[in-house]
Amino acid sequence: MNRILVTGSLGQLGRCLQDIKSQYSDFEYKFVDVDELDICNLEQIQRLFEDYKPDFCINTAAYTAVDKAEEDIQKAFNVNADAVKNLAEFCLEYNTVLIHISTDFVFEGNKTVPYKENDFPNPISIYGASKLEGEKHVQAILPKHFIIRTSWLYSPYGNNFVKTMLRLAETKTVLNVVNDQIGTPTNANDLAEVIMQIICKEILLDKNSELTPIYGIYHFSNEGACSWYDFAKKIFSIYKIDINLQPLPTSGYPTLAKRPFYSVLDKSKIKTVFGIKIKDWEQTLTSILTDR
Ligand SMILES: NC(=O)c1ccc[n+]([C@@H]2O[C@H](COP(=O)([O-])OP(=O)(O)OC[C@H]3O[C@@H](n4cnc5c(N)ncnc54)[C@H](OP(=O)(O)O)[C@@H]3O)[C@@H](O)[C@H]2O)c1
Repeated sequence: MNRILVTGSLGQLGRCLQDIKSQYSDFEYKFVDVDELDICNLEQIQRLFEDYKPDFCINTAAYTAVDKAEEDIQKAFNVNADAVKNLAEFCLEYNTVLIHISTDFVFEGNKTVPYKENDFPNPISIYGASKLEGEKHVQAILPKHFIIRTSWLYSPYGNNFVKTMLRLAETKTVLNVVNDQIGTPTNANDLAEVIMQIICKEILLDKNSELTPIYGIYHFSNEGACSWYDFAKKIFSIYKIDINLQPLPTSGYPTLAKRPFYSVLDKSKIKTVFGIKIKDWEQTLTSILTDR
């Protein structure tokens, strides 16, 4: 039975992977968060790899506080870059396939059409720069890797835009939300499903020795594009929340970290290689919110 190690297991994506594990019962799983495996701790990684010998490692652990990272540069690079290098080295030693999650924030955001995997990354924040450095380590060290860049992740867990909007709506009658940053919301559950499909396909191809061409960088988000304002509008419409929602330019909402004005990801590659059908962002958001 193939063994899957999931880091950062109490985060949004980690929790969604735990939610779907019963649908993929041909695997043995070990879910660990920072209290059991701090990915910055070399000895802890070594011990875990030695004991568990994972066939796959899904690295969802990350420093994800985008604004805080601007002031906590060392920590952001430790977690998002240095620790990823260590993980990749252990994966190489133990012949483990690494599924590493990255971000649309590796892009500057000057384009007006969706970003492809081979578009030049040029991050404009510390978070984006630290994640890009993590990607580069994985590519340099470990041939058997999948780097999946995703965007605007939300789930019933942790901190995310959907939960923030619902919380703010409890106390506010007017909300101003940025309408000139364009991207795509991604249901973390859909991403978890895609990761498991990639693992299943890798195993299939490995058996047929058709391996190498499928490794590499992939983009995954839900389909479509919107602004944070459109995203908020949809959330309130699904919940039938009556609130005075006003569009705001980025200049009216200063933050520590700069964010790309446009970071829609082109998903052609992942759809072609893995035969994946991707849900539209509005459709999957409606289903997650009305199911609760
Ligand atoms: N959230 C988004 O909008 C978004 C967008 C694009 C890409 N991504 C990427 O997608 C991945 C998953 O994101 P997410 O939203 O699920 O993140 P998340 O909810 O912030 O979860 C990350 C988890 O990693 C843990 N962690 C932090 N430092 C660690 C360390 N040194 N060792 C082990 N675990 C550590 C966190 O613990 P603490 O909570 O205790 O720190 C948390 O449980 C990340 O790689 C992220 O960069 C996210």
